[in-house]
Amino acid sequence: MTIKMGVIGLGYWGPNLVRNFCTLSESTLVMGCDLQVERCQKIASLYPSIRFTQNVQEVFESKEINAVAIATPVRTHYPLVKQALAAGKHVLITKPFTDNIAHAEELISLAEQKGLVLQVDHTFIYHPAVEKLKDIVVRGELGDVYYFDSVRINLGLFQADASVTWDLAPHDVSIMEHLISRPVQWVQAVGARHAGQKFESMAYITVQFADNILGHCHVNWLALMKIRLITLGGSRRMVVYDDNLVTEKVKIYDKGVTLNSIEGLYDALVQYRQGDMHAPAIENSEALAREIRHFVHCIKQGTTPITDGRSGLRVVRILAAAEESIRQEGKRIPF
Ligand SMILES: NC(=O)c1ccc[n+]([C@@H]2O[C@H](COP(=O)([O-])OP(=O)(O)OC[C@H]3O[C@@H](n4cnc5c(N)ncnc54)[C@H](O)[C@@H]3O)[C@@H](O)[C@H]2O)c1
Repeated sequence: MTIKMGVIGLGYWGPNLVRNFCTLSESTLVMGCDLQVERCQKIASLYPSIRFTQNVQEVFESKEINAVAIATPVRTHYPLVKQALAAGKHVLITKPFTDNIAHAEELISLAEQKGLVLQVDHTFIYHPAVEKLKDIVVRGELGDVYYFDSVRINLGLFQADASVTWDLAPHDVSIMEHLISRPVQWVQAVGARHAGQKFESMAYITVQFADNILGHCHVNWLALMKIRLITLGGSRRMVVYDDNLVTEKVKIYDKGVTLNSIEGLYDALVQYRQGDMHAPAIENSEALAREIRHFVHCIKQGTTPITDGRSGLRVVRILAAAEESIRQEGKRIPF
């Protein structure tokens, strides 16, 4: 069975979905949709066999289309996903899933009632480097995980209708949540608005997970340099993922500390371990291509996506708590 797709939203990210659905042999892109005619025309010049519309109802009413990918601003996610599910279409929705918890919960129930696949486009979860990190954590190579730390900063792109917390942080929060895979105890965040913006352009988000694992994400649109760095520290090893590197993106360091407390002595003996580093081979393939293959596979096999509505909701809960904490000047928000 070939999955017949519609893509809604042809701005910055939508054309990447179009390209990937057109490339995959198990899917055919039938229709593209954007409110702006010039965005449709631009894609039409590259893909002449696709039909285009500015009216999203045409996509939902099409009998031929069985799944849609939606790449529109976050405020439109809830109404568009709801209509798509109500029309019986499987849905791939760009991050963040929704801008509030209640809407995410409602969409999850609707997808379950209808028996439809609902996948959230947390692209990095399908990145071979993140898959390698997950494998390293699950196999216990780090020992007990102590912390997750990420920096995602650069100059731009300011979003007109979303803060850096809702726009950039979903990447790191989804990766952190996926790797740590523990209940959240509390979230604390501070942020700042600059250059006359309505929304925060930088934020420091701290998440306390169960088992004493601390997570931290630093996101900033007003930074001098572009940094995409994730570090995980554990009792046996530490691992670094630098997404800016072309090769050797992931490096595992055999570094750590051992505390030998000697009975009867108050002072603990701290021993630092400075061992070797190794960079595992990482497959060179596009995360979005892998993700789209997964979406189509889940529809065909009737299986649940890795980044289903529930994982999207867990990310939304952390983002909503971070936003609330920023509003309350850094108050801890308990879960
Ligand atoms: N995974 C990633 O790495 C990644 C990267 C960038 C953006 N995104 C996500 O993709 C989504 C879109 O972001 P963008 O940067 O492409 O935004 P954008 O503003 O460039 O494009 C959005 C498009 O949606 C269209 N649109 C809005 N409402 C519509 C409607 N009701 N019907 C049809 N078209 C409609 C707009 O006309 C616009 O062309 C967001 O959720 C964003 O977070 C994901």
